[in-house]
Amino acid sequence: MAKKESTVYFCNECGFESSKWMGQCPACKAWNTFVEEKVEKKAGMSGHRKHDITDSMPVSFDEINTQSEERTVTGIGELDRVLGGGIVSGSLTLVGGDPGIGKSTLLLQVCKKLSDAGKNVLYVSGEESLRQIKLRAVRIGEMKNNLKLLCETNLGTIEEVIKRTGPDAVVIDSIQTMYDEEIGSAPGSVSQVREATAIFMRIAKELGVSVFIVGHVTKEGTVAGPRVLEHMVDTVLYFEGDRHASYRILRGVKNRFGSTNEIGVFEMKNDGLSEVLNPSEYMLNGKPEDSSGSIVSCSMEGTRPLLVEIQALVSRTGFGFPRRQSAGSDTNRLNLLIAVLEKRLNIPMSDQDAYVNIAGGIKITEPAIDLGIVLAVISSYRNKAIDDKTVAFGEVGLSGEVRAVSLAVSRVNEAKKLGFNTCIVPYGCLESLKEIKGIKIIGVKNIAQAIDLI
Ligand code: TYD
Ligand code: MG
Repeated sequence: MAKKESTVYFCNECGFESSKWMGQCPACKAWNTFVEEKVEKKAGMSGHRKHDITDSMPVSFDEINTQSEERTVTGIGELDRVLGGGIVSGSLTLVGGDPGIGKSTLLLQVCKKLSDAGKNVLYVSGEESLRQIKLRAVRIGEMKNNLKLLCETNLGTIEEVIKRTGPDAVVIDSIQTMYDEEIGSAPGSVSQVREATAIFMRIAKELGVSVFIVGHVTKEGTVAGPRVLEHMVDTVLYFEGDRHASYRILRGVKNRFGSTNEIGVFEMKNDGLSEVLNPSEYMLNGKPEDSSGSIVSCSMEGTRPLLVEIQALVSRTGFGFPRRQSAGSDTNRLNLLIAVLEKRLNIPMSDQDAYVNIAGGIKITEPAIDLGIVLAVISSYRNKAIDDKTVAFGEVGLSGEVRAVSLAVSRVNEAKKLGFNTCIVPYGCLESLKEIKGIKIIGVKNIAQAIDLI
């Protein structure tokens, strides 16, 4: 076959391809992410190169068997929840996350669970030696013999091994170390990572094997990040959390077989990751008593309510320009809420710095915590503590109104379960909360009413 070599430029963030270098990626708007790659391809090659044209036939809907979407429950409840009820056979799942966050540990635990259930599992590592994997396995527990390990980075060899041994599930750790001999560029480059993913996609679909691939998130941009292949795989899970804290959050970002906003909460212990069954309790651990600038709010993570402590610190600014910073929530949203306070309640904030932190290090994007943020900021500004047993949630609009949020019932029930005795909720949600007994529910129409309460 004829070989052709060409130079192309790829965005390391999103995989955008261009024939010339650019300072800013037109697709994802990231700066300085273009890298040069020599692509040497045999004509007509791609992930589906061994495809036989004659076996392609169009089918009608009646001929498609939907019963075949078989799921295997892993037994790790938090993971099953994020996957939408277990691993779908023949699916390709990407597990992304910062180095050292626990991706290999999680997947080795999945392998253990599956092999304990009698499945044949293959764990392919291109990063660690067999000895290193064994040392990790020893911490996690005893492994069955139907879990096989392979240290290999050559895609051709891995494909052969999978075809020969026919495992039910395969873990590839990590996609950035895999390479295809027929591509000129180095492992970890955009073209290699894409080709490798295409090959695993084909293996997963043709053989019905569930494939998990690990992808490191990189900031330096020397290797292609998982974003490059998000669109190619069936499911994308991100493993996040503060490396210095022990809890980890597994978040579904894309899922062709289920909902995407579920999270799983884990704690890294000495013997691997363990599930956190009551994340609210976990997040509220260590909440200070009688301290100003702190209130509990409730966010929905998928179908699950999560109580979090919102902390605010408001202090006189040292420079001409006030600083606003937010950890765990959106800083622009904080700026907006402070502007609402200034304009609607005439609270002078222009000479005050404001810092907001969601305790526990979790990131929350839901606007339902707006009311919590406003109350925490006011509490810190006035230096007056809010009652410990109060939960507040609601979205704050630009006129200072408190707007209704979804699933208020679950939120209030969660607060009640954890021993809170008062809930400040949007007035618009009161109707749906009539039935709940045993907790005081106060509906507010605007932030002024909410502030009067505390
Ligand atoms: P690892 O799974 O290697 O991370 P990744 O594959 O995402 O790079 O795990 C990294 C950290 O987890 C490492 O610093 C050690 C720690 N760890 C524990 O605390 N307990 C354990 O049982 C294991 C296996 C690892
Ligand atoms: Mg690893």
